[in-house]
Amino acid sequence: MQTIQEYIQQNKQRFLEELINLLKMPSVSADPAYNQDVINTADSIRESLLKAGCDTVEICETPGYPIVYGEKIIDPNLPTVLVYGHYDVQPADPIDLWDSPPFEPIIKKTEIHPEGAIFARGSCDDKGQMYMHVKALEYMTNTGNLPCNVKFMIEGEEEVGSESLAWFVPRNKEKLANDVILISDTGMIANDIPSITTGLRGLSYVEVEVTGPNRDLHSGLYGGAVANPINILTKMIASLHDENNHITIPGFYDKVEELSKEERAEMAKAPFSLEAYKNALAIDAVYGEKGYTTNERNSIRPTLDVNGIWGGYTGEGAKTVIASKAYAKISMRLVPNQEWQEITTLFKKHFESIAPAGVTVKVTPHHGGQGYVTPIDNIGYMAASKAYQETFGVRPIPQRSGGSIPIVSLFEKELESKTILMGFGLNSDAIHSPNEHFGVWNYLKGIETIPYFYQYFTELSK
Ligand code: BES
Ligand code: MN
Ligand code: MN
Repeated sequence: MQTIQEYIQQNKQRFLEELINLLKMPSVSADPAYNQDVINTADSIRESLLKAGCDTVEICETPGYPIVYGEKIIDPNLPTVLVYGHYDVQPADPIDLWDSPPFEPIIKKTEIHPEGAIFARGSCDDKGQMYMHVKALEYMTNTGNLPCNVKFMIEGEEEVGSESLAWFVPRNKEKLANDVILISDTGMIANDIPSITTGLRGLSYVEVEVTGPNRDLHSGLYGGAVANPINILTKMIASLHDENNHITIPGFYDKVEELSKEERAEMAKAPFSLEAYKNALAIDAVYGEKGYTTNERNSIRPTLDVNGIWGGYTGEGAKTVIASKAYAKISMRLVPNQEWQEITTLFKKHFESIAPAGVTVKVTPHHGGQGYVTPIDNIGYMAASKAYQETFGVRPIPQRSGGSIPIVSLFEKELESKTILMGFGLNSDAIHSPNEHFGVWNYLKGIETIPYFYQYFTELSK
């Protein structure tokens, strides 16, 4: 029987070409200008799944972008793996900061990826990682190595909050029934230190608007005599953290799960170099909540960050003006057991309450989602761990991530199964940033590791 290693050796050029073609499609879900490209990308995923051996593949219409659903059921008595991924990507801007055009993929060597990395928007998040599953399926069906049933559900709105998927899942519980959900949309510590993501943070995303006078004013004639919305907004935002970088919203920490000393000691064993971390970001110090390490700050602790802020005059030169309005987009990353709607409400109440007389404040909630933690004493995690040991030669480290895939907690609620997060990206792959890339080695390693997951999961299910 042909091994996955042999199969990759023979087909790797084609595997790369196919991914490159997929990356040429600008499936930006946030920007309506790309509407047709997003739809075309769904069609292309459908073709790929059919070619890889799915028996049926449907384009499932939703109130938003379609969900591509495919399956290969070999025996209803065998376990079923449900693969989730997303074919949409983040906007590419600022385009000027890319060294090569975001939708013209090229392979370049880097220090971390001496075998080359594919540079393109979506290469790592998530087209490259999602496509590893399509190629792993191709191997398993072509060589008669598929040990169980498989379902694919690939959505087109992950980067904008998965609203349509949240609509789709409860309506299709039977179709989506499974024994484990498998996702590659996260990262690992390093190519020689594989890790499996055991936690995701939740999210509450809001936009705020501060309104002062009914029109923009001359900053000389009126300055000092009326509330300047930008001054006020920045003051309000600054007050959201205290001197220890704790968040000041009343009730914000009430439900935060506190880890035990033992759990924190276990976490601290994961290899981490503060010097390398600072060097990679060209910063001279890290910054964050007092009493917690960098790895704790970005995984087990909740945060509040301004993602964008605007108002007034930002063009060339100087214009003397007091703007009528100021705006900011604010995200809060949440941890178990914070409820995202509740946090959104707490934020709104607090933010409105700290507005001084002279301005009015409007808080508009965007999207959100619950955090997720997966235990490591289940057969899904065990199967993944064995798969990594097989292909990396070392046991992977369980690690909580700071990122969010809000739909995962909904999967658990609606489909009652655990999600296993087998991510093969690196933090340095610049997802959501200019020059996003995905290591060729990582891409092929993912394809190599996935079939072992199927094998061990099926064996452990017996
Ligand atoms: N794939 C990421 C999430 C991620 C990346 C988790 C790396 C862990 C490690 C996903 O596409 C993403 O970007 N999610 C968004 C949330 C969404 C609601 C826009 C995020 O985390 O900002
Ligand atoms: Mn993603
Ligand atoms: Mn993303």
